[in-house]
Amino acid sequence: MPLYKAVTIQDDTRLLIWKITETAEELSAGVALKEVCRSRIDKMRSEEHRKGFMSVRRLLQEAGYTDHDLYYAEDGKPHLKDGKNISITHSFGFSAIIISSRNVGIDMELRREKVVRIAAKFIAAEFSYLDPAQADDYIRRLIVIWGVKEAIFKMVSREGISFKGHIKVLPFLAEDGKGSAKLDFKEIDRMYGFCFEEIEDFTLVYAFEA
Ligand SMILES: CC(C)(COP(=O)(O)OP(=O)(O)OC[C@H]1O[C@@H](n2cnc3c(N)ncnc32)[C@H](O)[C@@H]1OP(=O)(O)O)[C@@H](O)C(=O)NCCC(=O)NCCS
Repeated sequence: MPLYKAVTIQDDTRLLIWKITETAEELSAGVALKEVCRSRIDKMRSEEHRKGFMSVRRLLQEAGYTDHDLYYAEDGKPHLKDGKNISITHSFGFSAIIISSRNVGIDMELRREKVVRIAAKFIAAEFSYLDPAQADDYIRRLIVIWGVKEAIFKMVSREGISFKGHIKVLPFLAEDGKGSAKLDFKEIDRMYGFCFEEIEDFTLVYAFEA
């Protein structure tokens, strides 16, 4: 399937999602890649990774950009040459980008029970409103929290940020579709808004400066 969803959310913020059903070769058709990206993709061992990477280039085209408009900082954070902010995620069957004049971050995660085992690694204060006995709800909210923290990390991209110690997701319900979070790291003491939605077995989260 090509484009799964393309929506404008708040002013000039565009969210685009690709459902990956093609091969990497099919996704490459008609996509011009920078030399640096061509050599990056040639080095990728997994077909899944190549598909994620190429589907992001297709999303860029849908948004009116090409690979030539995108560059990466040393930390891995992507940027657009026209000064707009971009954030990228790819997770098995889906990829997504968000583009905005304000700082934004995006993440997509497969809802897996495995998240329960690692919860204590990225959660502290949030345990006060989570109930492990409500297994389905617990996993759904853990995945959202994980996605929010990844999305905020992608916005800020500062070495030393701990998901557990520095980012706190305020109480929310799995049905809410939105919430807020706080980052307290060195000189940063800031609130962020976030939205989330479940798409098939995945949870998509995007965050923005509140
Ligand atoms: C880099 C990181 C944000 C990537 O997230 P991920 O969930 O593994 O993978 P995603 O598919 O969602 O995102 C990958 C994209 O993130 C972007 N990215 C990579 N590094 C980035 C950074 N420093 N800042 C912003 N975006 C970044 C890239 O666009 C990348 O895709 P691309 O290289 O193909 O363009 C993540 O691996 C990371 O380092 N997180 C913080 C570390 C941490 O604290 N982890 C868990 C603690 S419990």
